[in-house]
Order: sequence, then structure tokens, then C-alpha cells
Amino acid sequence: MPIQTFKIAALAGDGIGPEVMRQAILVLRAIEKPFNASFAISEAPVGWAGIDAAGKALPDSTLALCKSSDAILFGSVGLPDRDPTIPKEERPERAALLRIRKEFGLYANLRPVKLHAPLAHACPLNADRQAGGIDVLVVRELTGGMYFGQPKKTELVSEGVHRAIDTMVYTTPEIERIAHVAFKAARLRRKRVTSIDKANVLENGVLWREVVTRVGKSYGDVALEHMFVDNAAMQLMLRPSQFDVMLCENMFGDILSDEAAALAGSLGMLPSASLGAGSGERVFGFYEPAGGTAPDIAGKNLANPIAQILSAAMMLRFSFGMEAAASAVEKAVATAIHSGLRTGDIYSATDPAAKRTTTTEMGATIAAAITA
Ligand code: IPM
Ligand code: MG
Repeated sequence: MPIQTFKIAALAGDGIGPEVMRQAILVLRAIEKPFNASFAISEAPVGWAGIDAAGKALPDSTLALCKSSDAILFGSVGLPDRDPTIPKEERPERAALLRIRKEFGLYANLRPVKLHAPLAHACPLNADRQAGGIDVLVVRELTGGMYFGQPKKTELVSEGVHRAIDTMVYTTPEIERIAHVAFKAARLRRKRVTSIDKANVLENGVLWREVVTRVGKSYGDVALEHMFVDNAAMQLMLRPSQFDVMLCENMFGDILSDEAAALAGSLGMLPSASLGAGSGERVFGFYEPAGGTAPDIAGKNLANPIAQILSAAMMLRFSFGMEAAASAVEKAVATAIHSGLRTGDIYSATDPAAKRTTTTEMGATIAAAITA
């Protein structure tokens, strides 16, 4: 079979971004030979790194590189300490991350949360509440809702009094397309969708529930349940095993995916894929860990690279059609975890098998465990 070649834009960003990205690239290099692929990886600055290099959080050359690539592997952006130095519209979260999501129409964000059995110690729930396992896919709508709705502004209403306005907006087609993503994903899993809304208060919630119910009719093999977001936040703590696919609008998905990630031991374990329109084996996508830049531990070789590495695995699966390679990465991660290696975020002193490790050792161990 001829060697397959893929172009990857690697945007490491700020904080722990560069050091976890290095480990993901190491793992991708370990994939090339056994899986007969060649990755052309181009690195470019984004976030504060972009501002420092080219005066903008998303430099034009970085955006151009993204446009000419098959996928974007993203680290993380944002350094709250530096925020006061520039207007909020120019800050990395808005000017780079949200801009890329919108620019490429990446409306479907998939966040798989899974508690690996050896990490039971790192889960904040006791053994009773962990019963039945924790294996949830959060499907988060990513280009609508309050993040993007207009008007969005802060205005002065009278002397010393400001009014801030964010607008939650969803249209029927926006809800339909993300609902289809959730039902299709559920078909490959345990065939349950829990749709999250606030239909008891929000107009958006009422429409969300109506549209999801209608879309659900064409997936007779998938069980659909609706849940208010506040109750969902509680149910995740009480009985997480009841969830298979959680279908959420943008902000609810942001919040619930962090909560769910904590159940899997750490936000440092949570990868994500952001996909747009298109289908088939090769879909352009954006892959990033769901966690942030963690400035407090940046540059200290302490960050957990697993979320970044698992994001690369999702890229292999969804953008390159390399399912076997994606599984090999996930297996290698499981092997490293089973061996007892733990970065600080998943380390637990009460676990006799746990061995505290570094970003680089974790990355190297995972890369070395890759087999075809
Ligand atoms: C995430 C992050 C982002 C979001 C921030 C950094 C803008 O929290 O990807 O979950 O809110 O979407
Ligand atoms: Mg978030």
C-alpha cells in the first residue's frame, strides 16, 4: 500500500501548550512507520505566542497554514495575567480559539470522558458512586449560543453603571445538525442520548427540546432522554453511569465537560475533536485538550500530556481515517496508566501502584508503547 501523507498544523500556544504538544508529536512520529503514514507537521504561533511573534493572537500566516492543512492539532491559549494589557476582543480565547471555531464552521465538539480503572483513586467519587463505570461522550455545540449570539456588548447606562449583554441564540438547523451528530455517535456506543437543556426557563431550551425530540424520531434504535442542566450537573455526581452521550448547547457543554473530566481523574485526561460539515473518512478537524494553559505549572515538566496525545488520536481517527493507529495510541496510553505512571494531577498518595512522573517521561513511555 502506498504511504499516506497528511499535513498537520501544530499550534502549541501558551502555558503548558508547547510541552504537551512536544509529547503528542513524539507519539505521532512513533505512529508513522508501523502504520505506513507520513506526517508533515508545521508548527506556528497562536495565542500570546502569536501576539509576541506577529502582533496578533491568530497571525495571518498561522491561519493560512491551517487552511492548507488536513487538520489542526492545537495546544491551549490564554494567560490571564497578561489580559489587562490588551482589549478583550484581541485576547487569545476570542481572537484565536473562538475565531478558528467560527472560521472553519467547527460546530461539533466531541469530548470523550472515560475513567480508566487504575485511576479510580483519582476520581473524586467514592467506589459506590463509580459503580457501573464512567464512560461519557459530551457532544457540545460549538459555534452558537451565548458565545457568539448578538448583541454582545458592555454599555454605560448611567454614571458608574454598566450593563453587560450576552445573547443566547439557536436556530432550528443549528440544533438539528448537532443532534444528528449525537445520535450517530450513540449508535456506536451504548445507544443512549441525554439531551441537556433549561426548557423550564429559557426559550432556547424549549426549542432545543422540540428539535432534538423530532430528530430523535429517525433514530428509533437510540433511547432519548431530556434533562435540565442543573439536574444533569447533580446526576453526574450521583450516578454518572447513567450517561452515555450527553448532548449540550455550547455553554452547558463547556461547563458539564469540565465537571465530567474531573470524574475521569483530571482535566488533563480529556481530549476533544471539533468537526465541521463534511463526511466520509477524512474530515477537516481541530483537535485540542479541553483543559487550559495551566500557567502555574507551565515550563516545569509537570503537565499531563495525555489529553494532548489523545487529541492526536482523535485526529488520526476522524481526519485521517486511521482507526487502527488511533486505537494503538489509546492502548499505549492505557498501558502507561496501567504501569503506574502518574503526573501530579492524577497522582494519589493512597494508591500503592502510583509512581509520580514528568511530562516527558509520560510522553516517552506512551510513544514507546505504540505497536501496530
Ligand atoms: C474550552 C475552553 C474554552 C471555551 C475557553 C478557553 C474559551 O474552556 O474549550 O472548553 O469556553 O470553549
Ligand atoms: Mg471549557
